[in-house]
Amino acid sequence: MSKRYTITAALPYTNGPIHIGHLAGVYVPADIYARYLRMRGKDVLFICGSDEHGVAISMKAKKEGISPKEVIDKYHNIIKNSFDVFGISFDYYGRTSSEMHRETAQEFFRTMHDKDCFETQTTEQLYDAKEDQFLADRYVVGTCPKCNNPEAYGDQCESCGSSLNATDLIKPKSALSGESPSLKTTTHWYLPLDRYEDFLRSWILESHKSDWKTNVLGQVKSWIDDGLKPRAVTRDLSWGIPVPVAGGENKVLYVWFDAPIGYISATKEWAAKEGKDWKPYWQDKNTELVHFIGKDNIVFHCIIFPSVLKAMGNYILPENVPANEFLNLEGQKLSTSKNWAVWLHEYLEDFPEKQDVLRYVLTANAPETKDNDFTWSDFQTRNNSELVAIFGNFINRVMVLMQKYYDGIVPAPNAYTEADEATLAELAAAPNKIAQLIEQYKFRAACQEMIQLARLGNKYLADEEPWKLIKTNPNRVATIIHTALQVAAGLAITSEPFLPHTAQKLRNMLQLDGNLGWDNVSTLPLLRTGQQLGDSTLLFEKVEENAISMQMTKLTT
Ligand code: 2FM
Ligand code: ZN
Repeated sequence: MSKRYTITAALPYTNGPIHIGHLAGVYVPADIYARYLRMRGKDVLFICGSDEHGVAISMKAKKEGISPKEVIDKYHNIIKNSFDVFGISFDYYGRTSSEMHRETAQEFFRTMHDKDCFETQTTEQLYDAKEDQFLADRYVVGTCPKCNNPEAYGDQCESCGSSLNATDLIKPKSALSGESPSLKTTTHWYLPLDRYEDFLRSWILESHKSDWKTNVLGQVKSWIDDGLKPRAVTRDLSWGIPVPVAGGENKVLYVWFDAPIGYISATKEWAAKEGKDWKPYWQDKNTELVHFIGKDNIVFHCIIFPSVLKAMGNYILPENVPANEFLNLEGQKLSTSKNWAVWLHEYLEDFPEKQDVLRYVLTANAPETKDNDFTWSDFQTRNNSELVAIFGNFINRVMVLMQKYYDGIVPAPNAYTEADEATLAELAAAPNKIAQLIEQYKFRAACQEMIQLARLGNKYLADEEPWKLIKTNPNRVATIIHTALQVAAGLAITSEPFLPHTAQKLRNMLQLDGNLGWDNVSTLPLLRTGQQLGDSTLLFEKVEENAISMQMTKLTT
């Protein structure tokens, strides 16, 4: 394991709030990874921010009759707040409308321009004469040439996931006026991706063939096998970062050129604030760069951005890009336009104390290898039968017995039985099992290993039945409670990457020494004889049927 990690999570567009699909696909897994590495004492920089350029923002501004600046300010704040409340522990959350970002993105463009890394092409592009506007990206809709979806955008088909050029669309229509566009000549800068084919093939398809996820390798291979073509990195738009070279008047950088550079400009802002040097996080070969994204961002993070970094010359490349598949909702694709979504800010209104429940359900059911479905009934079952009945129940039992028999003071153990030793051995082995899974980006399985600890504790108490022995064999009960408490303390530590709010509550209840962390779980004891525990509260509460039917009604009306 290396010492320094730069972890990025896809910069969300600030054209709307974020929903459970974003959380499940990108932010929760990235946060588990970042929290875990920090607990292992690594130097971690976890970076994200708002993606504030591109047609998606201008379209939203037009629709709402406000300026793009008003749109980005509004959603930047909503999104940032949702992340804070869900405990997504970014070290820095930037925005691509910042001055530092403009400077950094322009410097990238200028450097690449001066190194002859671009080609210019003069071509005929779709043009809306009524609106006096070239139609790129989301300004144009039409039929996808790959899957025939009639609502594909000029940059991407959301149905089959293909990345498109506006001129690829069949029967294109302007999203601004609804008119059929005409063609008009314009000149743009292109990144000749074909020059990077050999590098990408050997770096990803050879060097990373056994450590990158198969869904990611599959997409990369199909892109490369289809033949990489030059890709325009500028646009005829007004909202965006001005092209900083001669001939760039009235043109801006393509949003997908500037957005990933946002990770670097955010790092620079963070470093300036913390009095640190940003360079090692992007330029030192001992740093592992990991990009957390959804599958629709694979081409940008595995092909285009690495080609830009390679062209710049002095940057590290990602060590991994553990992209997730998509999360569906009640059997249907999440859709902002059809309002088929669970919005985070709305979830928080209905379940203000249940951030960890959603984190848990989304992790337990994460779309790691295939698209997966979120259902409210599964949410209820996982809450009631796993968090309440296993995790919560175990902790509650231990705490109640502790208060009742020992006034909250950890009792001294007596002779250990085989069952005690087996339980303690399983506890000591847990952090390593969980760690190995997290390091392989298998967060679902890692989370199940963590819950397995609670199961272990529950089963141990159920088998040993201290409540039946308290009168006849108090020495034995002291050993059982001492042992069960170690499991509870182990859970307070190992649950932290997954359930940070719960872990903190549990630490407070157990008055666990703040210096104890991941590496201490295998060298027990975590709680010492004579230590006074704190007050006990319920960690989880049942979700009743009416709360679930309310959510279903909200969704369908
Ligand atoms: O797909 C999206 O939501 C993009 N805004 C992600 C950008 S990721 C990064 F490159 F900035
Ligand atoms: Zn398609």
